[in-house]
Amino acid sequence: MDKFIIRGGNPLTGTVRVSGAKNSALPLMAAAILTEEEIALENIPHVRDIATERRLLASMGAVVELHEPVAPEDGSSTAPLSHTTICCRSLSEPVARYEIVKTMRASSLVLGPLVARTGLARVAMPGGCAIGGRPIDLHLKGLEKMGASIVQQHGYIEARAPRLRGAHIVFDRITVTGTEDLLMAAALAEGESVLENCAREPEVADLAGLLTAMGARIEGAGTSTLRVHGVRSLHGARYCINPDRIEAGTFLMAGAITGGDLTVAGCNPDHLGAVIAKLREAGVRVDVVAADAVRVRGADKLAAADISTEEYPGFPTDMQAQYMALATQAEGVSLVRENIFENRFMHVQELVRMGASIKVDGNTATVRGPARLSSAAVMCSDLRASASLVLAALVADGETVLDRVYHMDRGYERFEEKLRGAGAQIQRMGDVFPPRFGPSGATHA
Ligand code: EPZ
Repeated sequence: MDKFIIRGGNPLTGTVRVSGAKNSALPLMAAAILTEEEIALENIPHVRDIATERRLLASMGAVVELHEPVAPEDGSSTAPLSHTTICCRSLSEPVARYEIVKTMRASSLVLGPLVARTGLARVAMPGGCAIGGRPIDLHLKGLEKMGASIVQQHGYIEARAPRLRGAHIVFDRITVTGTEDLLMAAALAEGESVLENCAREPEVADLAGLLTAMGARIEGAGTSTLRVHGVRSLHGARYCINPDRIEAGTFLMAGAITGGDLTVAGCNPDHLGAVIAKLREAGVRVDVVAADAVRVRGADKLAAADISTEEYPGFPTDMQAQYMALATQAEGVSLVRENIFENRFMHVQELVRMGASIKVDGNTATVRGPARLSSAAVMCSDLRASASLVLAALVADGETVLDRVYHMDRGYERFEEKLRGAGAQIQRMGDVFPPRFGPSGATHA
């Protein structure tokens, strides 16, 4: 099981380039189920969850191919994007099997498209995960309103509908993949659907962009009300997905916590409003230096600032753990309220083991800083908690060993390479105990 070894103390400098958004890629790949024609998606990140979704689609009979970028003959500087093609011409088996689903939560995203395209879906219940129970009752309620009959047995959900009917659906609570699942179902349903209280995360608008390119008729993308006029069929398309706003936010926090001067390139600053505002409130210098680049310069002294996670455009729950690591270095008391998931403080105990002063009471963590962090052997538990521990290790005294970094690999592409490229002393090690960093930061046996 891979580990990261990180020696703290280096400010991050230079430029780091973000990859495509994992949470766009997952629904947009599922959208390929809606058509017999080929979909080509550019800027798909090479992360574990995407590899799992490729396996999932292939297990249903889809032809999924990854096309690595070809260096441009004209030697142009812009790095070409890799693209993935997916063709669901023959879906031999509209089943998402447990063996695949259990390793990736977002399998619920194939439910709506499978029912809409084939009239039948059998999807293993994904089960909970470290951060919460992750129910999908709102997905199922919406599909039933669209005429699907739903049976849950033996750990599987079976949904059937000769053809889904358009419906007026008001989500009891805002759900990102619930909105995406039902938007895909509505695209092929008979008649008009109105979806209210939808998620406004940029990934939903990204999905609407692809569906529209495929011939879907959608109004209100990016707002909380989506109006969809169902069509009989959708055609193929080529589409470039959003940059990953959470990866970008994570690197901004890394530049801030290490007191560095780091430019995060290839991002969309418009998707980072709440994160940038909070960093500025904490005394960090943040400048939008281009349409796709944000520069962060760490403050001599970080100021405490509270956060309360909210649906987009509020402060994202996926940035809560990373912000908490930063707050351990701020002067004063920061309150961190987690309003989206019921168990998203798995990073707290590991941060405390590194010397942080954090007390949890219900959904609120009280962080007192600045705390001098020292290296420790810590355990990654979920994707964003892992990122939080990396940020803490970047400022801790000594060498921190992070175990179970496969959690990180689910959503961060070449994370250690990108950090090393910005000056971090970080190495990925197998099970053999790691060599020590030399004076230059290079590892040696
Ligand atoms: C998406 O998860 C993201 N994943 C999550 O990112 C992200 O944290 C979350 O949205 C919130 O922004 C993907 O997009 C693949 P929700 P999702 O449905 O859609 C409750 C990461 O780190 N709920 O918006 O599963 C649910 O329990 C991951 O990249 C129901 O009660 O989240 C939660 O409390 C983690 N019933 C709240 O709603 C439902 O049917 C929001 O969940 C659905 C959700």
